[in-house]
Amino acid sequence: MPSANRFSDDRLAVQRALDAFCARWLTEVAPRTAEAVRYALLGEGKRLRAILLLEASRACGGPADAYELAAAVEVVHAYSLVHDDLPCMDDDDVRRGRPTVHRVYGVPVATAAGLAMVPLAARSAYRAALELGLSTSEAGDVVRTLMDASGASGMIGGQLLDLEAEGVALPLDAMERVHRLKTGALIAASVTLGAQAARASAQRRAALAHYGAAIGLAFQIADDVLDVTATTDELGKTAGRDLALAKSTYPALLGVEGAIERATALINEACETLAAEGLLTPTLEQLARYIVERRN
Ligand code: IPE
Ligand code: IPE
Ligand code: MG
Ligand code: MG
Ligand code: MG
Repeated sequence: MPSANRFSDDRLAVQRALDAFCARWLTEVAPRTAEAVRYALLGEGKRLRAILLLEASRACGGPADAYELAAAVEVVHAYSLVHDDLPCMDDDDVRRGRPTVHRVYGVPVATAAGLAMVPLAARSAYRAALELGLSTSEAGDVVRTLMDASGASGMIGGQLLDLEAEGVALPLDAMERVHRLKTGALIAASVTLGAQAARASAQRRAALAHYGAAIGLAFQIADDVLDVTATTDELGKTAGRDLALAKSTYPALLGVEGAIERATALINEACETLAAEGLLTPTLEQLARYIVERRN
């Protein structure tokens, strides 16, 4: 993450909110599965989605401390990683610098852990929204945003298209769709959730949604670039996995330089959209630029 103290403070606060999530909700889950959920959640993630939610809320004059809601997004994200790494998906052994959940707990427990996380994230998001003072109907909208982004018309839809496309050289427009769904949707939802926490106007929400969608696509392009330019050590996950699985990626289609150019153009577009609404805070700009400049 960018090095500003604000981001490290927020990462710590999100970490504490994830601890609180485990304490509150995992009592309902069978012990071994609960342990796997805790392992998945408490690994060293960047917490980018959580921080985007917090900064979007702050940019709209909303609550600065929507940590419980931010943690709920990280729960959905962590579930997506657990399942993404399963042998039937990307079959990966390393995540966040340590063995993947199924390497430690086995495939059945890892599968169950991922499945248990989604409804708990939804319930936790609802509770968090009410705690922030939103009405029951607004809290329902919050849950809808999170679940729509995770479901068949969002992340999981994109993940299925991604698997179907292994060994197929997708044209650019089809690949962009996969990337927007599998990764962009949840990142865009994080930003939108910040706007919802702040009860932002429809016009501000639209600008933030556009920003979120653009940086979300840029994030997956950068992830594809890092898969070929960074090491397993730097990434905390297996470098070169996309080539091994014959995935369609931006660097494969546009070259590394071309992919970085496309991601940079998206970041500029995202920042211009927010600037036009007077919403481009220094932190939202920093976070957007970090997405293409990061090394992990
Ligand atoms: C990795 O996301 C999965 C993708 C959507 C590309 P992150 O790079 O945000 O993973 P963590 O949370 O920091 O581990
Ligand atoms: C994952 O894309 C998108 C998710 C929804 C998890 P990748 O398969 O490229 O993510 P990494 O590289 O394994 O983190
Ligand atoms: Mg994948
Ligand atoms: Mg993967
Ligand atoms: Mg990847």
